Amino acid sequence: MGEIVQRVKGTRDFYPEEMAFRSWLYGQIREVSERFGYQEFDAPFLEKLELYAAKSGEELVKEQAFVFTDRGGSEISLRPELTPSLARMVAQRQKELVYPLRLWSFGPFWRYEQPQKGRTREFFQWNIDLIGAAGYQSDAELLAICAAFFQQLGVTPQHTRINVNNRRLMDAQLRKIGVDDALKPTVFRMIDRRDKMRMDAWRTYGQEQGLTDAVIDSLVTLLENKALWNESPELVEIFSILDRMGYADYFDFDPQVIRGLLYYTGTVFEARDAARDGRALLGGGRYENLVGDVGGDPLSGVGFAMCDVMMQVALEKYGLLPELAVQPARIVVTCFDADSLADSYATAVELRAAGLNTICYPEFVKLDKQLKYANRIGAKFVVIAGPDEVAAGKITVKNLETREQTTMVRGELAAFLKSASA
Ligand code: HAM
Repeated sequence: MGEIVQRVKGTRDFYPEEMAFRSWLYGQIREVSERFGYQEFDAPFLEKLELYAAKSGEELVKEQAFVFTDRGGSEISLRPELTPSLARMVAQRQKELVYPLRLWSFGPFWRYEQPQKGRTREFFQWNIDLIGAAGYQSDAELLAICAAFFQQLGVTPQHTRINVNNRRLMDAQLRKIGVDDALKPTVFRMIDRRDKMRMDAWRTYGQEQGLTDAVIDSLVTLLENKALWNESPELVEIFSILDRMGYADYFDFDPQVIRGLLYYTGTVFEARDAARDGRALLGGGRYENLVGDVGGDPLSGVGFAMCDVMMQVALEKYGLLPELAVQPARIVVTCFDADSLADSYATAVELRAAGLNTICYPEFVKLDKQLKYANRIGAKFVVIAGPDEVAAGKITVKNLETREQTTMVRGELAAFLKSASA
């Protein structure tokens, strides 16, 4: 045998088992999104690179985007995220759309990252966004959706926490400790990396970026102040709404949450394993200028994206992965000899017409081999029509679970299987 060509690094093959999880997750996402009245939409998988240049941030655009030049000479990117496409789609039809606009989507994204646990180069995201409700109180709706989704999957506040912060609050605090505006993006990046670096390396990184030791010390104190949210009227109100909604247990204030994307302007949040195991399960926040930045009139939005890779890691850890059927048919019609193959095919058609998912063994091989196959794929019933039965106008069903065998008049087969599989 020749060498098998390897798949691209950081991508995953979806055999039926993996596909079953992906489809199940999509189903759960749809249920929760629709429960809150959100409509499904999608955007192209290819976008002009300049769309992201506007506001996503340098790391995403320069280091992580999968970019190529198409035959017409345009710089195209596989989408690394959805929010700029959403902003573009809103800007395009800004006058016709009805606000507040509630939209969700599930699909693939690509980022050139170092593959590791919970991180791949091709991943799926659930995006959900509320556009055109400018009041920060509506951020509580998106946070509630996160909590409702976890609840739906059986993920408790003991498993996972949703950590919330506010960029306006952090702006004000940074000004207070003497960080001037020009250094703000650098300091945000530092805050974002605080958990990913050792303290001494983090400090050196800060010094290299031009921060004094005094500023770094104040920053450390700031990042440990868990009561800071009381100084943000926005956060005080959002937490109080979440409390009234009954979701408060899922939420913590965390001054270290800043999120890497440049377009967030107010509330920012992420969900993480309570033991801080692995990267964020989801991340999001409020963006007030993105629709304007892609050419529309100013319009505020808030939303988040959750990724399938980390979600699977977490559900596995919590013992919450569902058992999913991977074989849709539980009936196998066997073929007794070469001459009766066409009859078996016809029997299968009849069963399918009666609404029963049915496999027909597609060629004549020993019956034993066919039964073994039916067992291995997890079928429950095999249908057998031997020459004696055919002559008497009868047919046999074998239940592979109980080993029971029932012979019946040919015309009763579909009804029998229907009631037996119910
Ligand atoms: P993000 O923070 O870049 O936000 O990504 C959101 C989530 O996507 C992350 O928390 C993580 O779970 C997942 N993710 C990102 N990169 C990878 C990767 N390489 N492998 C696996 N999972 C990954 C956004 O994308 C924003 N557009 C979200 C948003 C929607 N903000 C407002 N609306």
